[in-house]
Amino acid sequence: MTETVGIDRMGFYTPDMYLEMTDLALARGEDPAKYHVGIGQDKQAVIPPTQDVVTMAANAAAQILTPADKAAVKMVLFGTESGIDNSKATAVYLAHLLDLPADTRAVEIKQACYGATAGLQLAADYVRARPTAKVLVIGADIARYGLHTAGEVTQGGGAVAMLVTAQPRMLALEPVSAYHTADVMDFWRPLGRTEALVDGRYSTNVYLDFFKTVWTAYQAQTQRTIADFAALTFHIPFTKMGLKALRQVLPEATPDQQVRLQAAFEASQLDNRNVGNLYTGSLYLSILSLLRHGHLQAGDRIGCYSYGSGAEGEFYSAIVQPTFRQGFDDERLTALLANRHAVSVAEYEALFTQRLDLSGRDVQLPIGEVSAQYYLAGRHQQQRLYRQRAVD
Ligand code: CAA
Repeated sequence: MTETVGIDRMGFYTPDMYLEMTDLALARGEDPAKYHVGIGQDKQAVIPPTQDVVTMAANAAAQILTPADKAAVKMVLFGTESGIDNSKATAVYLAHLLDLPADTRAVEIKQACYGATAGLQLAADYVRARPTAKVLVIGADIARYGLHTAGEVTQGGGAVAMLVTAQPRMLALEPVSAYHTADVMDFWRPLGRTEALVDGRYSTNVYLDFFKTVWTAYQAQTQRTIADFAALTFHIPFTKMGLKALRQVLPEATPDQQVRLQAAFEASQLDNRNVGNLYTGSLYLSILSLLRHGHLQAGDRIGCYSYGSGAEGEFYSAIVQPTFRQGFDDERLTALLANRHAVSVAEYEALFTQRLDLSGRDVQLPIGEVSAQYYLAGRHQQQRLYRQRAVD
């Protein structure tokens, strides 16, 4: 018998401050409706210098790992576009911060916003072959396009942590999946640059073309149609992007199915709309948002479209498990988002430039008001100083 394998638990972390998109629009001379409706974003996470992808991942993963899980984790796969070292993997720092056993493989996966999906699929294959093992998969990023750029409204940041196991509580991954790679220059970040280079409209078109390609290939492999899905979820660097993808395939559904898929999409973009772009974590925050706010039932099939510029696209599916609500802490996630505070545009601009620069000089960061469990205290002799606060 083939083992059921998939996502057992999901954790999410984003820092405790955000920027209102109305404030950003007014500061940039834009109509706020362009950002709220045209782009589809309400709030954007602002990342203080005391958080990087390692600390955000640790803050997300610490929510879901029990001591028994830690003992069973055999691999950490860390998807990120915004790693902190050209050589050493973020996953190694993370395994140390989480106090994972030494007989763990820990590696980083890079392919723009697609890395976490590669991690998830590799993890699932690994667990199918070794059903007692668990794999920790991370999608963590800080999306940076730059101040006063067209992409500024599509920034954000945070981390999603997923525990992949046999007999998962949340989502069983179906083994079929369709993927597509082509060498495309729609978004890239040459070494030494802290902000992405992007051809925004071109990247939107490539994203939509890749979706059509992998959706068609998935249907050909499985003989399934849109009628087989209770929800379609998307990589959503900004929520309008997912809506555009959904609109491409909605005409394939009956009117009743269209209503259901649109309602599911609404649920799947709620949290992303209030956090902004997570790059690799965006699809996974959207799946979490769907499970939190949607009306799914055990046995429902959800479709998942992952896209990473450069470019790689993949469409796969998962089945909602009867115990899916046990896989995340809904109250905690609601509190995490509700307890953030707004910063002004001036404060956001200052924080945007205060991140650790590339000079390598020693830095001591102000940590007086840090609320996160894991944080960055500074840099000494070219090494990041990670710290952990005791939590209640
Ligand atoms: N009221 C309502 N809507 C309005 C409006 C108003 N007053 N004014 C404009 N709009 C609408 C426009 O009609 C448009 O809607 P449609 O796309 O449906 O036509 C929308 O707002 C955006 O308007 P513009 O295209 O004029 O906006 P822009 O030129 O400022 O650029 C953008 C928008 C191209 C998305 C830009 O924000 C950008 O470059 N973002 C970054 C690129 C990106 O995120 N690409 C995603 C794939 S790549 C990726 O995900 C990264 C990865 O792999 C790591």
